Amino acid sequence: MHLPRPRGPISAAVHDRLATQHHHPSTLSLTTGQAVERALLDVADPVTDDDFQLTLCMLYELHYRGFDGVDDALEWAPSLLAVRRQLEHRLESALRGLCPAPAEPADGLVVQALTDVTATDRRPEMSSYLSREGSREQFEEFLVVRSLQQLKEADAQTWLIPRLSGRAKAALIEIQIDEYGNGRTGHLHSELYALAMRACGLDSTYGAFLDRIPGHALAVGNTMSMLCLHRRLRGAAAGYFAAFEATSSIPSQGYADTVARLGLPAEAAVYFSEHVEADAVHEQLAIRNLCGGLVDAEPALAGDVLWGARLCMALEDLAADRYLTAWQSGQTCLLPDPTADASELAMPTDRIDLQGGRRASPSVA
Ligand SMILES: [Fe+2]
Ligand SMILES: [Fe+2]
Repeated sequence: MHLPRPRGPISAAVHDRLATQHHHPSTLSLTTGQAVERALLDVADPVTDDDFQLTLCMLYELHYRGFDGVDDALEWAPSLLAVRRQLEHRLESALRGLCPAPAEPADGLVVQALTDVTATDRRPEMSSYLSREGSREQFEEFLVVRSLQQLKEADAQTWLIPRLSGRAKAALIEIQIDEYGNGRTGHLHSELYALAMRACGLDSTYGAFLDRIPGHALAVGNTMSMLCLHRRLRGAAAGYFAAFEATSSIPSQGYADTVARLGLPAEAAVYFSEHVEADAVHEQLAIRNLCGGLVDAEPALAGDVLWGARLCMALEDLAADRYLTAWQSGQTCLLPDPTADASELAMPTDRIDLQGGRRASPSVA
């Protein structure tokens, strides 16, 4: 994908280094590190800050798909890893403030505690809003705002596999096999998401809408990447993932209903229908076997597992609140299209051209 447009001084510093690194390898460390350190002082809330979250997203993308024209070797450039570490440190502190560590669950009760945590999800509210009264434009925004995460669905959790053993590892692999379509091209959940986007006439190219995705939405994927990339945080990663899976099935039915009510092509509902059934199973596997197995093997991780689950709920609730607040007041939940002219940006939600030249032909090929 293309490098996104910077949103402030932090992303501008990293963007410039990524774009020019192969020309100036020796200047990477000092200038980037110092610029980021200064700019970080002005970030009030790393969880929702657009500049902060885009920067972290760019640094993580070096480990996923990379960027057009950017040297793949930069994935392991010490200076960029140092910047990533600075941002992760700030983000983790902010997340621990947003969602304090819960009391350790009593021995053997982590499964019940996880079940209790996931009962407080706001996603059914968003799903029922869309299925009841959401417009086509709002449903498309919903697809767009989650696209960076869902078009690489399951990839972050794959990093968790080598950090586990026994029952927990087997459970995660069983879930991942489903997420990756049992190895059948065209059935990967990321591909089903792309199918849904194309069915709505949206560009399903990975990263096509990155410039439109706000910081709080990027924070969901960034947090999952951070938890799965640090072995120290494996308990939280397992809990976060379990909570995500446990709260997906019911809202997915609402999204499938939205597709039907709006008269969108049936291909747009396949991803969601698949998750109604799959995530009902994944919920049990993730809570009982992945998290239960991990805590049985490493009891000291029980508190981290529960914290990860609560964190997932907190970030998803924050995002759901922002989307609903925007839609219910007739606004878009996306950032302005940087390629649109000023008059287009002033349009109300129902007239915004979501695609900004990136609408695909409305086929589902
Ligand atoms: Fe999935
Ligand atoms: Fe799943």
